[in-house]
Amino acid sequence: MFIRLTARILRWLVCGRVGPLWMWKALLLFVAVVFAGQLLGVIFNKSGVQPAGHSIFSSPDAQGPSLGSCRPHTHIMFLKTHKTASSTVLNMLYRFGEEHNLRFALPLGYQLGYPLPFNAHRVKGYRGPGALEFHIMGNHMRFNKMEVEKVMPADTFYFSIVRDPVALTESSFAYYKEVAPAFRKAKGLGDFADDPNKYYDPRLRNNQYARNLLWFDFGLDHNANFSLALAQRGEDLIRRTFKLILISEYFDQSMVLLRHALCWPLDAVVSFSLNARQQKASVGGMSGIWMGKAAAAAGVGGGRPQARIPPNLSLTGDQREKLRQWNALDWYLYKAFNRTFWEEVDKFGRKHMEQEVSLLRMRREHLARVCLRDGGKPVEAHRIRDKNIRPFQSGFVRILGYELQPGLDNATRMSCLRMIRPEIQYKDLLDSKQFPQVPPIQAPQNPLLIAAGAGSFLRAESRNREEPVGFEIGGRTMEEGGKDWDGSRLVRRNQTGIRGSGTGRSP
Ligand SMILES: *[C@@H]1O[C@H](CO)[C@@H](O)[C@H](O)[C@H]1NC(C)=O
Ligand SMILES: *[C@@H]1O[C@H](CO)[C@@H](O)[C@H](O)[C@H]1NC(C)=O
Ligand SMILES: *[C@@H]1O[C@H](CO)[C@@H](O)[C@H](O)[C@H]1NC(C)=O
Ligand SMILES: *[C@@H]1O[C@H](CO)[C@@H](O)[C@H](O)[C@H]1NC(C)=O
Ligand SMILES: *[C@@H]1O[C@H](CO)[C@@H](O)[C@H](O)[C@H]1NC(C)=O
Repeated sequence: MFIRLTARILRWLVCGRVGPLWMWKALLLFVAVVFAGQLLGVIFNKSGVQPAGHSIFSSPDAQGPSLGSCRPHTHIMFLKTHKTASSTVLNMLYRFGEEHNLRFALPLGYQLGYPLPFNAHRVKGYRGPGALEFHIMGNHMRFNKMEVEKVMPADTFYFSIVRDPVALTESSFAYYKEVAPAFRKAKGLGDFADDPNKYYDPRLRNNQYARNLLWFDFGLDHNANFSLALAQRGEDLIRRTFKLILISEYFDQSMVLLRHALCWPLDAVVSFSLNARQQKASVGGMSGIWMGKAAAAAGVGGGRPQARIPPNLSLTGDQREKLRQWNALDWYLYKAFNRTFWEEVDKFGRKHMEQEVSLLRMRREHLARVCLRDGGKPVEAHRIRDKNIRPFQSGFVRILGYELQPGLDNATRMSCLRMIRPEIQYKDLLDSKQFPQVPPIQAPQNPLLIAAGAGSFLRAESRNREEPVGFEIGGRTMEEGGKDWDGSRLVRRNQTGIRGSGTGRSP
């Protein structure tokens, strides 16, 4: 219709006749309409073609430097070692799996039977080898290759993370002081280091936290006396299964190697650092005073209110050396995997590594500015309004968390939220997605579950330095109970409460 009208107008013009005024008005109107249409079209196309196109998470920077023609790994087993920043890595696996609708081999409770050697039946929904395709496994377990292989496909990529045994022991001592009998008896870490045998009894439950914890988590005998031959056998065993061993001390370099090994986009390995919080929160230079889920499982505290002073973590050089000897198997492993780690970096190219690490750090800062209120300035737990990300107060350390930047568009908000969702809330969320019909806990086989299910006190779990912390199941079904050994509040849960968390599934 416009075309015909235009033709008529043109004819009028070409023929040199000045048409009536209405014709000129029509022409003007027509031009205006076409122009406006064009303009609107541009706008509509922009927002229509890329619905999430405005999210920072779909910008080219999210991909990072090219990975070549590889295909992303989607069968992944991560051995989540203790006190090694492994919760940060698990958050990445959770995020990637959730975004790609992958199936997780989730525990019935929060750990895959730890400290018992892993058994396939610890996996929720497991019904025999190959019955169901699981993509990602990453919750705490004591590694047991044969059983893991029943759950995970043959082409699974295995990786893990290790940390300097002295730093690990400091963290473990602070965290499991009241859980591991060997630590409980020692006044300070220095006293323990001076003569570990005085405090250590290999037969006592939870003493794995006090000796060769890495070795133990990898499923090996952590009480074996050190010999080079034995250590090498253990190393070989691990190498045969694990394609990549990350190093906590070189976390960013580890993330670059991981991303290239898994063929994942840059954003998948970006996490927020909570160093500022840690510095503020630390007491006497300790890196964290927390008690984990295992502590809760062990029934520590029992609601007995008792104010305690922070354990003394200071060590002399001599005591550090003694701790290395005491954890000789772990020290050997750490040195061996540190060596191969840097060999991998050399293969990757040091220069190349530097570039990717600085890109990773820039991206982390950028995402923090976008996602986090006040650019990621940590806030006290009670000021965080969103229960899904509210950390639970625990220990002497003031646990701080993040708040999301207000006013984010939905897509960006969802991606940001994933990055700061605490581990336990995240597991519950994935659980409720994978098992929409069934209540999350069917048979409490896990000792942790029994402890929690019986209405005992479950102590808030906090995280490693790099990550958000917290523990609050859906924020609905928990009540606060008494005080724990360190004077912190405890969370009370009962069976109803646990089940209740499963009904709060997202649509
Ligand atoms: C902490 O432990 C170190 C090493 O054992 C010791 O020298 C120091 O006196 C202790 N400090 C306190 C306050 O007990
Ligand atoms: C380690 O050696 C000590 C003596 O050096 C011995 O008493 C102990 O039984 C040995 N432990 C193991 C697990 O072999
Ligand atoms: C780990 O490797 C780096 C780089 O080679 C080296 O500087 C560092 O001393 C090593 N650490 C240990 C504990 O061997
Ligand atoms: C936000 O996006 C998610 C998925 O991207 C969707 O499931 C959810 O319904 C959206 N929420 C709103 C309020 O639009
Ligand atoms: C367990 O939790 C439910 C829901 O929060 C509550 O109604 C019930 O009273 C609790 N039972 C016990 C024994 O605490």
